[in-house]
Amino acid sequence: MGHLNASYQQAFWNVDMPDRVVNVASVPKRSPFRYPGGKTWLVPRVREWLRSQRRRPDLLIEPFAGGATVGLTAAFEELAEHVLLVELDAEVAAVWKTILQLDAEWLAERILAFDLTHDNVREELAKTDKGTPEVAFRTVLKNRTFHGGILAPGASLMKNGESGKGLRSRWYPATLAQRIRAIAKIRGRFTFQEGDGVQVIQDYSNIKDATFFIDPPYTAGTATGKRAGSRLYTHHRLDHEHLFSAMQHVKGDFLMTYDDAADVHELAERHAFQTRLVSMKNTHHAKMSELLIGRSLDWVS
Ligand SMILES: C[S@@+](CC[C@H](N)C(=O)[O-])C[C@H]1O[C@@H](n2cnc3c(N)ncnc32)[C@H](O)[C@@H]1O
Repeated sequence: MGHLNASYQQAFWNVDMPDRVVNVASVPKRSPFRYPGGKTWLVPRVREWLRSQRRRPDLLIEPFAGGATVGLTAAFEELAEHVLLVELDAEVAAVWKTILQLDAEWLAERILAFDLTHDNVREELAKTDKGTPEVAFRTVLKNRTFHGGILAPGASLMKNGESGKGLRSRWYPATLAQRIRAIAKIRGRFTFQEGDGVQVIQDYSNIKDATFFIDPPYTAGTATGKRAGSRLYTHHRLDHEHLFSAMQHVKGDFLMTYDDAADVHELAERHAFQTRLVSMKNTHHAKMSELLIGRSLDWVS
């Protein structure tokens, strides 16, 4: 899983022509998280999508925020007036609350001051205080020192690091602090809500100007309940049928992204949504595909 994640994170964007491969290194990385299935590689497409709207959306909602790659891009690049991030996972939520509502500077300083050794990480992660900023710090620490950035139960601390570079292989305190401060500076453009993304979709479904970017937890075969779903996220189970019917009632535009799997095609077809397969190349030059789903995908070049 960690391997898959790494190849996603370092993916190269392949626009329709096979020899026009855009390096995702050209997409600014803004999230404090590294995220299994993070959507950095999709950013150029999301820009196309948001710019294709008749007018700039008043509100972009990311109901399954995770590392919020798309919400951050929209806010920084002013592709939407305001961004609403929603996340169910209490640990991930603590990070967004601390940065956007509580004390981003405390978190940045805490990261800069931490001496990253195996002992210090173990000692820190054994702490049980439940204050939101403390939980946020432990979450960032786990995300940077656990295999594949996986926060779900069962994830484990890296021993030799990724690419054999030791525990510090994904710990970039100065970069993390800079990203946190940059987000905090524009925090007026965000609202964060801890809770169920599908509920929020329903709450905003009558608002014409609310636009949704949907990247739900999904493992091939789980949309119709055939498989249990692997544990990339603590909250990895979702009723995809329920999500699709919620999307059918939404008045604003939306873009969903899923693995290219038969059960997802089936769901999209049944709800009369359009699908487009887009491809990317990872660093090993393996071609990977991702399924975009929307009411109308005419903007996809
Ligand atoms: C595929 S990840 C999103 C990754 C994100 N697009 C990125 O680029 O970092 C899905 C996220 O949805 C969260 N999640 C799962 N069930 C949820 C629910 N019912 N409501 C809100 N968030 C949920 C998971 O905790 C996870 O963080």
